[in-house]
Amino acid sequence: MESQNRIMNSMIITIDGPAGSGKSTLAKSIADYLHYIHVDSGAIYRGYTYAVIQKIGYKENHQLFGEAFKFLSIPPEEFSLRVEFSKQKQTIFLDDQNITPFLRSRELTERIRYIADHFLYRKAVNKILKEISKLHSIVIDGRDMGTEVFPEAQFKFYIDASIEERAKRRFLEIYPQNPKITLEEIKKEIAKRDEEDKTRKIGALKIPKDSIIIDTSFLSRNMVLNLILSILNFKF
Ligand code: C5P
Repeated sequence: MESQNRIMNSMIITIDGPAGSGKSTLAKSIADYLHYIHVDSGAIYRGYTYAVIQKIGYKENHQLFGEAFKFLSIPPEEFSLRVEFSKQKQTIFLDDQNITPFLRSRELTERIRYIADHFLYRKAVNKILKEISKLHSIVIDGRDMGTEVFPEAQFKFYIDASIEERAKRRFLEIYPQNPKITLEEIKKEIAKRDEEDKTRKIGALKIPKDSIIIDTSFLSRNMVLNLILSILNFKF
């Protein structure tokens, strides 16, 4: 009975947007505020990419990686990937190893597109997301959350920012660990990911019809957070 109530009462708030728009940090803050679970769908695509890399290696470059992945046609069922939540924090396990700290490297990021383009992997990720949503109220961020995966979500946001601003934010994040990186290189990488995300045959990044669109180019994190919380308070 209790689990039935939980399912009936669970809320879904989706936050979609392009790379570097700050949606994940925002989703986490909203989830913390509401005591919901923050689900980072991109991290699950990253988890599967990590699993594939463990199996076939990085290869010399991402194109060769993509060719090997296609040639070997490895199904997602081959991997034992698990998503757990502790104190509302998402952790990804591969064969019982916590792989969360290894998911954000540039080399891995370059290779995600081959996994994210694959319909079987999209199906596997979406199945995990649906299961989580049956057990918890969630704030979930990604590319196709409000359009494909949770069209029934009670609240949908689309977070955007100019490519210049997104590149600047990413640069400030990466530069301390990699002082050789240039702003121009990061801008190119983000433009490439935008192109891949928007032109993907399934699960492409689109603005959900019934979403609230926020351009964060000239807004601080706190301003965006307060804006969303005030919209939610107003609507709850
Ligand atoms: O959000 P994040 O940058 O971690 O996502 C990594 C990649 O995973 C994206 O560039 C995209 O290729 C893929 N992704 C996706 N659908 C989602 C979330 C992420 O295809 N819902």
